Amino acid sequence: MELSLPKEDVTIVLLENIADTAVERLRGAGYTSITTLSHSPEPAELEALLAEARFVGIRSRTKLDAALLAKAPKLIGIGCFCIGTNQVDLEAARSLGIPVFNAPFSNTRSVAELTISAIISLMRDLPGKNAQMHRGQWHKSAEDSYEVRGKTLGIVGYGNIGSQVSVLADALGMRVLFYDTATKLAHGNARCVAHIEELYTQADIITYHVPETPQTKGMVDERALSNMKSGVRIINYARGSIIDIDALTHALDSGHVAGAALDVFPEEPEQNGETFISPLCGYDSVLLTPHVAGSTQEAQSNIGLEVAEKIITYSDNGSTTGAVNFPAVALPPHENAHRLLNIHQNVPGMMSAINQVLSAGGVNITGQFLQTQANIGYVVIDIEKSTSAEEVRRYRDEIQALSGSIRTRILH
Ligand code: NAI
Repeated sequence: MELSLPKEDVTIVLLENIADTAVERLRGAGYTSITTLSHSPEPAELEALLAEARFVGIRSRTKLDAALLAKAPKLIGIGCFCIGTNQVDLEAARSLGIPVFNAPFSNTRSVAELTISAIISLMRDLPGKNAQMHRGQWHKSAEDSYEVRGKTLGIVGYGNIGSQVSVLADALGMRVLFYDTATKLAHGNARCVAHIEELYTQADIITYHVPETPQTKGMVDERALSNMKSGVRIINYARGSIIDIDALTHALDSGHVAGAALDVFPEEPEQNGETFISPLCGYDSVLLTPHVAGSTQEAQSNIGLEVAEKIITYSDNGSTTGAVNFPAVALPPHENAHRLLNIHQNVPGMMSAINQVLSAGGVNITGQFLQTQANIGYVVIDIEKSTSAEEVRRYRDEIQALSGSIRTRILH
């Protein structure tokens, strides 16, 4: 059962050297019981920390599986201070009534900026020139070097990153075409094309900003490459599975593709220091980076703020907006009400049982919000302040005791 605690007693454990901005933001909101660790703890240490934590903040190294979560009875929220959340068993967390938050947009600008740098670098053949110079070869020539102004950029995937790249490229004087499976509003002078082939036949340089889905997997294959203009440059700063690497090396060998910039790969080393192996190693015209397009100091600091903010909002107000595994409930402030939060199994009769507890007590409900997702329901009930805190605690205990209740919490 979840008790209601003063903020200073809400234990928050932040692992893996999470940015200081997170700690500052949490402290600023009154959460002072924060333990920070610079590493990802071994299982025994992690288990001990989780036994006491109300919230845990992790990055990509700490794995939170079902067995570990089952041993964290006080845990009410998880913050992934990164983009990915596959290090957490999201379904197990949801079944235990634990929302998981992440920071999907904090590094958008970082990826967009590096994409612009890749566009200019590829159009000037900087990767090739840099490689030659490192071999002591001086080759001063304008051959294969172009300004980006007036060139056509094709953007595949016009979401957060793709649209930012569009704005920046437009400002550089590029002609921007984009293709997206969803209807998207064009920014500036960019123009949407109805079919990807239209973009392929016109673009001097193509950049991919799509998620990994069955449709995007291998979308840059031999056929797609053959539809592109001869001498095209290609950027993949999205997901490694998008490009068929063998098809790309053939196109590089034939000269059909003049250059490429890749930050993500079908197989990536798991740890720093491991050897990177790819058929692309050794190609002078290919700019390779180790999945760092979104990794900047600014992105880290934004991630700290974004996830801390989501934890604070959930703890103070009950809103789960932005949770990746949980019913999304966006709540107004509850200044003149006690707020009762209940997470329950999504089974028939649950809501009527909860409402029965409250109506038997003659409670005046000023607001009720319910959302369900998969196997759980999340209901938030605002109760008029004329009801005493003691009574509300009694209702909480009765609701928590109902069969199917997972967690019940009060915000006074
Ligand atoms: P987003 O979700 O805002 O945008 C993705 C866009 O792709 C959406 O507009 C969607 O409608 C579109 N799309 C989906 N399937 C498509 C298809 N088959 N053809 C054309 N368009 C399609 O995502 P966001 O934030 O812009 O990220 C884009 C990609 O960048 C993701 O794969 C993400 O994982 C990756 N990324 C890589 C980073 C790195 O360090 N290299 C860092 C951050 C994101």
